[in-house]
Amino acid sequence: MTTAIEPVVYAIQDGCAVIRRGLQTLAAEFPGELAMYARWALAAIAHGPVDSIGYIGGGTAVMPRLLKHRARHHTVYEIEPVIVTTLRVMYPWLNVIEGDYRDTLRTHHDIIIYDLPGPVPIAQLHAHLNPNGLLAHST
Ligand SMILES: C[S@@+](CC[C@H](N)C(=O)[O-])C[C@H]1O[C@@H](n2cnc3c(N)ncnc32)[C@H](O)[C@@H]1O
Repeated sequence: MTTAIEPVVYAIQDGCAVIRRGLQTLAAEFPGELAMYARWALAAIAHGPVDSIGYIGGGTAVMPRLLKHRARHHTVYEIEPVIVTTLRVMYPWLNVIEGDYRDTLRTHHDIIIYDLPGPVPIAQLHAHLNPNGLLAHST
């Protein structure tokens, strides 16, 4: 018996990035979320140029792409190995840390963008912000 290993594809669909394995969507830019991403980007830009931005949740790396020229170091925390590999190939300027951010977030950032569902662990995230740092999150 043979098992087909489906390739992982990073594509643009209706103007939005999507990471697919066969028919399965692993991550996608959803048009309904673009306004939230724009708000975070404007807040980060208003904060001024910074050295380091941490992104909790990699997805299709919308936020790092929007903020690429606003910081020297971009660190993405991503739990899904296929997404980790895809982001490393597509965006070699990103530092992609594989694993659950609760185990891997060890350093400090000037800006942290938290994009996971559910309650936001504000105190834990603030503990990894530099003084006067900015935390952006969805809820
Ligand atoms: C909504 S997407 C993030 C989109 C991202 N903000 C962007 O700019 O494209 C959420 C991502 O978080 C990842 N994720 C979920 N739980 C996680 C965890 N505990 N630690 C790290 N990444 C996680 C998922 O695999 C998914 O890629």
